[in-house]
Amino acid sequence: MKPVKVGICGLGTVGGGTFNVLQRNASSIAARAGRPIIIEQVGTRRDNPNCDTGNTRVSRDIFEVAHNPDIDILVETIGGYDIAKELILTAIEQGKHVVTANKALIAEHGNEIFQAAREKNVIVAYEAAVAGGIPIIKCLREGLSANKINWLAGIINGTGNYILTEMGDHNRPFEDVLKEAQALGYAEADPTFDVEGIDACHKLTIMASIAFGIPLQFNKAYTEGISKITPSDIQYAASLGFRIKHLGVARQSQKGIELRVHPTLIPSDRPLANINGVMNSVVVQGDAVGQTMYSGPGAGAEPTASSVIADIIDIARTIEAPDSAVNALGFSADSLSNDLPV
Ligand code: HSE
Repeated sequence: MKPVKVGICGLGTVGGGTFNVLQRNASSIAARAGRPIIIEQVGTRRDNPNCDTGNTRVSRDIFEVAHNPDIDILVETIGGYDIAKELILTAIEQGKHVVTANKALIAEHGNEIFQAAREKNVIVAYEAAVAGGIPIIKCLREGLSANKINWLAGIINGTGNYILTEMGDHNRPFEDVLKEAQALGYAEADPTFDVEGIDACHKLTIMASIAFGIPLQFNKAYTEGISKITPSDIQYAASLGFRIKHLGVARQSQKGIELRVHPTLIPSDRPLANINGVMNSVVVQGDAVGQTMYSGPGAGAEPTASSVIADIIDIARTIEAPDSAVNALGFSADSLSNDLPV
C-alpha cells in the first residue's frame, strides 16, 4: 500500500511526542492505518533534544512543509494564533489534510478554518485540542451521536488540576507548582491561559459546539481561573467535606446554551472530586445513554501525541483507501496475527 506522508510543524512537547510515538509504534500504526505512515518532513525553528530526527528532512521554514507536494497530512503543533492559522490555511489551500492540537486556534478561528477545509474537501482533525489523551471529541461526535446532550462538565486543564492537587495535598505554593507544571511540559507557552481559565474555555467551546451542534462561540462563555485560590481555601473546603476543582460546564437551559468555567466546590466523595494531578475528566449527560464519564491524562507529550496520531490514522484510512483496507477490528487484514497464548 502506498504510504501516507506526514509533515510535522513544531517539534516542541506535542510535536516531539508525536514524532517519537509515530516512529516507535510505526508497525502497529501501519497495521491500524492499513498503510505505512511516514514522517516526510519536520518544520521546526528549534531541534528537540528528545527527538532523533536522523535522516528525516528538517526545515527551519514551516511553510516549506505546507508547500511540499509529497505531504498528505500537515500536523500543526506550533501553537499560537497568527502563524498557525496562516500555516493551516496554506496547507488546506494546497489540498492537504490537517491535524492540529491547537485549541486556542480552533476555538477562536475554527469556523473560518472549517469553512476553508470544506471548500477544498479536506479534513481538519483536532482530537488533541481537548483533554489531552482522552478521545473526547470522538466520543461526543461519534459514540454519543444518537443522544440529545443535556449537559457536560469536566476538569479540562491539566496544569490547573495539577496545581490545585499539589496545593491541597502538599500545601505547596501556587507559583512553585506552576513552575513544575511548566517544566513537565503541561502548561501553555503563556501559562496565564491555564491559570485564568482561558485554555479550559477554549476546550469547553469546542466540546459544546460538537455536543450541541452550535458554531464555536468562545466569547460568550463566562471565564474564571484558579489564580486567586490559596492552600487555605482548599483546606477550608476539605474541612467542610468538599474539594475545589476547576470545571468547565456546558448546559442546555431554558434560555439557551450556557458555557462557563470556574472553580467549583464538589463533595469529596464524588468521582470528579477525585480526579487528581494532570488528569482530566469529562462527564456527559445524554438523554438516551444517561451519564458517561471519560478520564485520563489531560496534558503532556505522549498522551497528547496519542490523540494527534489517532487523527492521523483516521485520515490515513480515508485517503484513496478502499474500506476493506482495514477490517471491522480496525486492522489491515494482512496484519492480524494469531498469537494468543492458547
Ligand atoms: N496546558 C494544557 C493543560 C495542555 O494543562 O491542560 C493540554 O491541553
